[in-house]
Amino acid sequence: MTPNSLFPNTLGYKSELQTDAEGVLHHLLTLDGMSRATLSRLLDRAQEFADGQDAPEALRGTAVCTLFFEPSTRTRLSFQRAAQRLGADVLNFDAATSSTTKGETARDTLKNIEAMGVRGFVIRHHEDGVLNELARHIDPDTRLINAGDGRSAHPTQGLLDMLTLRQARGEDFSRLGVAIVGDVLHSRVARSDLHALRTMGVRDIRICGPAALLPPVDDSGGMLHGCTVTRDLDEAIEGADVLMMLRLQRERMEQGLVTSLEDYHRDYGLTEARLKRAASDAVVMHPGPINRGVEIDDAVADGPQSLILRQVANGVFVRMAVLEALLAKPKRDDAAG
Ligand code: CP
Repeated sequence: MTPNSLFPNTLGYKSELQTDAEGVLHHLLTLDGMSRATLSRLLDRAQEFADGQDAPEALRGTAVCTLFFEPSTRTRLSFQRAAQRLGADVLNFDAATSSTTKGETARDTLKNIEAMGVRGFVIRHHEDGVLNELARHIDPDTRLINAGDGRSAHPTQGLLDMLTLRQARGEDFSRLGVAIVGDVLHSRVARSDLHALRTMGVRDIRICGPAALLPPVDDSGGMLHGCTVTRDLDEAIEGADVLMMLRLQRERMEQGLVTSLEDYHRDYGLTEARLKRAASDAVVMHPGPINRGVEIDDAVADGPQSLILRQVANGVFVRMAVLEALLAKPKRDDAAG
């Protein structure tokens, strides 16, 4: 396997697929290349929802399907919650009991559900870049939202992380030191966060993990350029304002990328003692699901500096903003960018 196939380049998501000829957001596939203006407008709208605004008629009569080919708790349920709060009809596709078990493809599945009058698809799939292919086969009025594909992108996670950080630290990200720690190699969250952090103006980004879980700098599709890359967690944490811990993807342990969970915790687990090396007001984030006692200790995950459940709450507001921007009629002008 070549380094590039280990860590594919999400530049494969074409901006012309994501925005229409006028630059209006058409699908949400990636944060790579999304303008600061568009990103900020989505965050502003999500903040309005967080502040108590509602739009219960925005998607009245619109059907949205959560089309997940991989497991999920937070993303699927928060999209469902968001769509319900906008008045949409929500269909939940269950891959395990669907006709995909008889060999039906993702494309045929989508086309058949689309034929039932569904306009919005929230898609999670193990295959990198799958939404590129699906986008070529849908009706012009259908909208696709990437809920996580392979290792490539998880754009609404990136957005909700930026909203959470903005609430905690204000609008100016330029002086923040952000450490992204753990299984970077397999993380679509890391990739989307990196794109968003750069767009929001963060200059000090530190990437940390064991060598086997870091993409080679020269083959990371540009992702790591401009970041500090280290295998030393203490070095990464020192004085940092934000610690973004990543899930250790235990399903890959058989491949021997990490010697043991105990070794991983010793070298890369975030403990209370280690957290003291960060800035005194540092915040801790994790996309979930958490491996407690592996990448993060209970005392940190549940401690006063943790924003983890705030991230989850913001997931609903960000997903409301995205669904509204893509699917509400008349289309909101502020989706341009
Ligand atoms: N953060 C995240 O994507 O969680 P789920 O896999 O539970 O959706």
